Amino acid sequence: MSDLEKISSIFNAKIDTVKTKEDLQSIKTEFFGKNGQITLQFKNLSSIEPEKRKEFASNLNKIKEDLTNQIELKNSELENLEINEKLKNEKVDVTLPVRPFQQGKIHPVSQVIDEISSIFSEIGFSVAEGPDVETDYNNFTALNTPDDHPARDMHDTFYLEKNKKLLLRTHTSPVQIRTMINGKAPFKIIVPGRTYRCDSDQTHAPMFHQLEGLHIDKSITMGHLKGCLDYFIKEFFEVKNVKMRFRPSHFPFTEPSAEVDIGYRIENKKIVIGEGDKWLEVLGCGMVHPNVLKNVKVDPKKFQGYAFGIGIDRLAMLKYGINDLRAFFETDFRWLNHFGFDPLDVPTNYRGLSK
Ligand code: PHE
Repeated sequence: MSDLEKISSIFNAKIDTVKTKEDLQSIKTEFFGKNGQITLQFKNLSSIEPEKRKEFASNLNKIKEDLTNQIELKNSELENLEINEKLKNEKVDVTLPVRPFQQGKIHPVSQVIDEISSIFSEIGFSVAEGPDVETDYNNFTALNTPDDHPARDMHDTFYLEKNKKLLLRTHTSPVQIRTMINGKAPFKIIVPGRTYRCDSDQTHAPMFHQLEGLHIDKSITMGHLKGCLDYFIKEFFEVKNVKMRFRPSHFPFTEPSAEVDIGYRIENKKIVIGEGDKWLEVLGCGMVHPNVLKNVKVDPKKFQGYAFGIGIDRLAMLKYGINDLRAFFETDFRWLNHFGFDPLDVPTNYRGLSK
C-alpha cells in the first residue's frame, strides 16, 4: 500500500467515528493542519524524484479533493442533525389547553373617561389637559372669582403654600383659561382630569374626577348647550330617552348658570336612568361670563359660548351600579377585578361603549 493509500484509509476509518463538530475539527487539523498528514505530503513533493513527481502530485491532489469533500459532507450532516434536534425540542403541542394567566383590568374611572371622550369626539370636541397643581389665578381669579368672593369658601381648597399662590385645582375649569389664553377662538374642547377638595364621605373623596366642556364660537347659544348635553347623556347611558331638567344656579364664571338633573326611578333595587319621578344632579353649566372671555383676550362682542363641568366618578357609579365612591380609590384588587373592564375592549361609539 502506498503512503497516500495509507493516509486515505486511516482517514476513512476516522471520519466514520465522527459524532460532533469538535471531532470533525480535530480530524481537519490532523490531515490539513500546519503539520497535517496531507500538508506534509505537499511539503515533501520537492524531494520526490522528478519522473515520479507528476503522477504522485496528481494522486495527492485527488486524495486531497476526496478528503475535503468528505469533511464537507460530514459537516452538513452534523448541521442537519443539530437543526433536527432543535426542532424536536421546540415542538409545541397545539392540542394542549391554554395556560391560565392573570389579566389586568381597566379601572371604571378610566373606562368612563374613554367612553366620554369617544362620545364627545363624535361631535367635534378635542381633548385638552392641564396640571393638577394650579395657580390661584387660573383656578379662581381669571374665572371671575376674585379674592373676596364667597364661592372660594365653598371649594374647600387645598393650598400648597402659606401665601396661597399655588393650590391643587378644585375643578377642571382652569383649563378653560389655559386653553383660551394660549390659543385662538373658536374653541371646542373637553378636559378630563383629577380635581381636589378637602372633603370625604360616601359620595365625596378628597380627590375626584371632573370633565370640563367648553365651546366658544361666533353664535353659540344655550340651545346648543342643551342639545349637546342631551346627546351626551343619551349616548353615555345608552338609552333612547332621558328626562333632563335645567335648574337655575350660580357659578361666578358663567351667566346664566344652571345645574342639570336627570330623571330616574328605582326598579328591583336598581337605578333605571332616563325616566321616573326622581331627580339626580349630574353637572353644572352655563354661558361663559364675558369677564372670563376678557381675561383671556377673547372679544365677548364677537365670541360667546357655553361651558359645563361633569362629575366623572358620579357618572361611573350610576352607570355601573357602584354605591361607594371611596372604593374607587382603595386599590382593592378584588373590587377592581369585579368592576374593571377588559383592556382589549376599547370603547367606541360604533362598536358600543360598554359591552
Ligand atoms: N367648575 C364647576 C364646579 O366644579 C362646574 C362648572 C363648569 C360650572 C363649567 C359651569 C361651567 O362645580
